[in-house]
Amino acid sequence: MSPSPSSPPPSSPASSGNHPRLLVTRKLPAAVEARALGSYDVELNTGDAVMSRDEILARAAGKDGLLVTVADRIDGALIAALPPSIRIIASFSVGYDHIDIEAAAARGLAVTNTPDVLTDATADIALLLILGAARGAASGMAAIREGSWKNWAPTGMLGTDVGGKRLGILGMGRIGRAVAKRARAFGMSIHYHNRHRLPPDREEDAIYHSSVEGLFAASDILSVHCASTPETRRLVNAQTLALMPEGAILVNTARGDIVDDDALIAALASGRLRAIGLDVYNNEPNIDPRYRTLPDAFLLPHLGSATLETRNAMGFRALDNLDAFFAGREPLDLVTPRCRSPSSAS
Ligand code: DGY
Repeated sequence: MSPSPSSPPPSSPASSGNHPRLLVTRKLPAAVEARALGSYDVELNTGDAVMSRDEILARAAGKDGLLVTVADRIDGALIAALPPSIRIIASFSVGYDHIDIEAAAARGLAVTNTPDVLTDATADIALLLILGAARGAASGMAAIREGSWKNWAPTGMLGTDVGGKRLGILGMGRIGRAVAKRARAFGMSIHYHNRHRLPPDREEDAIYHSSVEGLFAASDILSVHCASTPETRRLVNAQTLALMPEGAILVNTARGDIVDDDALIAALASGRLRAIGLDVYNNEPNIDPRYRTLPDAFLLPHLGSATLETRNAMGFRALDNLDAFFAGREPLDLVTPRCRSPSSAS
């Protein structure tokens, strides 16, 4: 469950009165910014313009930490150019593929993320995509908006039931399991692939496939939930899509770069896939324009965690991590193997 937005900060930074200096790269929910202002000497981004690399570097001067989002590309070159005063990068996200973790670790920087608190919101969006894709919601909504809906027809705009279908979950982590729980209530049977099979008590009758290929072949609907890594990049491609049953559905709430756009668009345009549901894309927000022309593509703009409750919880979690770090404790959600907290810094 997400903490309530009014929950008090669990601890104050060690150096209150001489607060750590923090750069926040994007506008955050009001309650999160209020808490940050109480504990940090903080530079907020009230205008919410995405900062360029040079702007991040200029504003990082004299700061102790950065609070960044998935819209910021914190690559090796940026990390190398950060001022030496920066000791921690706290990301307002569960995914951290936008940060070069190796470069950060090599510089002794701590990096944290915000797992758990967005699991339910993201699983809800995955179900929305599954239902929206299966029931032709994109073309139905377009018919309403364009005024082209003439009358109710027994054979008009027919989708497909999700009940009785096999849902394949690629990446059975927190979000994958939350999607499985919801999908069972809709009558779907669950199949999954993970690097490691879940223990039986956590499988809850889900059928494990030891290969990615086996999962694609067994999925009427496939929902992507793995992290973006060099191993998963373009895992949804012409070869894997060709294994899916005719008329299958593919849904992605994880990361755009797990999908090869050319292959996915070709599979949908040819009718090999019945429909797709996407919340994430390569090169966001400049998505491949061909997606917009496909009537059976149910498309959302990276809304997975976009509820006020969840965004508050993500912000509080990022601040919890910063608070712990500046108090000399190990942050709960440390992603880097090593960290240089103020009390251990040379
Ligand atoms: C994350 O936290 O990684 C999500 O993509 C943001 O919604």
